Amino acid sequence: MKLKRTLSIIKPDAIQAKFQGKILDFLEDKGFNILAQKRIKLTKSQAEAFYEIHRDKPFFNELIEFMISGEISVQVLEAEDAISYYRTVMGNTDPNEADEGTIRKLYGTNIQCNAVHGSDSEENANNE
Ligand code: CMP
Repeated sequence: MKLKRTLSIIKPDAIQAKFQGKILDFLEDKGFNILAQKRIKLTKSQAEAFYEIHRDKPFFNELIEFMISGEISVQVLEAEDAISYYRTVMGNTDPNEADEGTIRKLYGTNIQCNAVHGSDSEENANNE
């Protein structure tokens, strides 16, 4: 099968907790190629644009404040069926609901501070 790409973000909670190295090791152990990586701090307008799809959600403002509260680490990941595979490896959005052995179960705190983001479709992966 052809290798595909997805976008991953290690969020401020996981960076703050010094889980970046563990998460990157975990991704390589799961077979992802890390094609590119950049550590950045989002501006408010960048975070709002990135999460535009959630603008009408009650948690939107809190999500934006969280995402600009510290640095993030952004990766381009490559694997077979990368988008759905990464979503499986991340686990449920809510770490309390996530399966054992998933990134969010291992490194997430709650439904907002859930350690990582991954694209949910090929269109969004390209946009992101
Ligand atoms: P992510 O996969 O990056 O996509 C949207 C983000 O919004 C999600 O991870 C969480 O960080 C956050 N989120 C989703 N649902 C909630 C919620 N009910 N309350 C607070 N934050 C949420």
